[in-house]
Amino acid sequence: MQITKQGKYLRILSPAKVNLFLDVISKRPDGYHELESIFQTVNLYDVIRMTGTKSGIRLRTNHPELSVNKDNIVYKAAMLIKNEYRIKQGVEVFIDKNIPIGGGLGGGSSNAASTLIGLNRLWELGLSQSELALQAAKLGSDVPFFIYGGTALVKGRGEIVFPLNLKPRLHYLLVVPSFPVPTKKVYQNLKLGLTKPNPDIRILIKALRNNNYTALTRLLYNRLETTVLQLYPDLRRIYEQLIEHLYDGLLVSGSGSTIFRLCRSEKEVKGLTERLSQDNIVTGRGMGISKVLEVTTV
Ligand code: C5P
Repeated sequence: MQITKQGKYLRILSPAKVNLFLDVISKRPDGYHELESIFQTVNLYDVIRMTGTKSGIRLRTNHPELSVNKDNIVYKAAMLIKNEYRIKQGVEVFIDKNIPIGGGLGGGSSNAASTLIGLNRLWELGLSQSELALQAAKLGSDVPFFIYGGTALVKGRGEIVFPLNLKPRLHYLLVVPSFPVPTKKVYQNLKLGLTKPNPDIRILIKALRNNNYTALTRLLYNRLETTVLQLYPDLRRIYEQLIEHLYDGLLVSGSGSTIFRLCRSEKEVKGLTERLSQDNIVTGRGMGISKVLEVTTV
């Protein structure tokens, strides 16, 4: 997570993620699902700006649909740290939103992790990454990963994070639909035990390590994909169109709604974006696509 001081403000770059692999192992007694996943941060960022105040927590944002109240995960993150470490001072946080909401790109979780990292600095708490990750798990399943970022193997309900020192050079075309998908709904409709055997996550990690793009394309996997495409016929239509125009290497990110296309180079990403716009896929009437973004691993 990149953090810089600008006058009285801390400025934190809060990245989006994609899941190259997401298997759901079982449903747990607590209602959550046991996962095995490869998370990867990409260079699509929200910007979190924070400054110390005398007391209280104040949120502001440039996004018209984002709540700035107690239900915002950034507010919850600040509250958690204030209570846990008995902090008297306050904080003002501005969230500059670029990551689509409800897009399966982890924006909210990333913002929460950025807030924890920022407050650790602002209030000079001296917490280690693993201590921050422990607090992060209280806020949401995907939050601990963002304390580390990069490429990571993620297990449990999301709280067990093994950072992988891989730094793969991969590019992605993100196709962002104009509608969000609530994660909870996808998990609630997931039927376990009805699928064919999944690709092996260890083989995918090996392919990542070797920068074996061809193998990676074949090994991309998301156990939630069938469910989300069944729940959202509009998303299925987009997916089918994309298969026609972008061929393989396509996957829904997390619980959706974003669909990404893995690419081997920036040139390939640019070529595919051009092809989509020439074929009138992005602007096509009724296509339900809000935007197409070109990103790379960070
Ligand atoms: O942890 P978080 O609040 O981000 O999760 C949102 C929803 O996603 C949960 O309420 C749960 O229904 C589902 N979920 C799950 N298993 C996970 C992660 C999330 O069932 N490992």
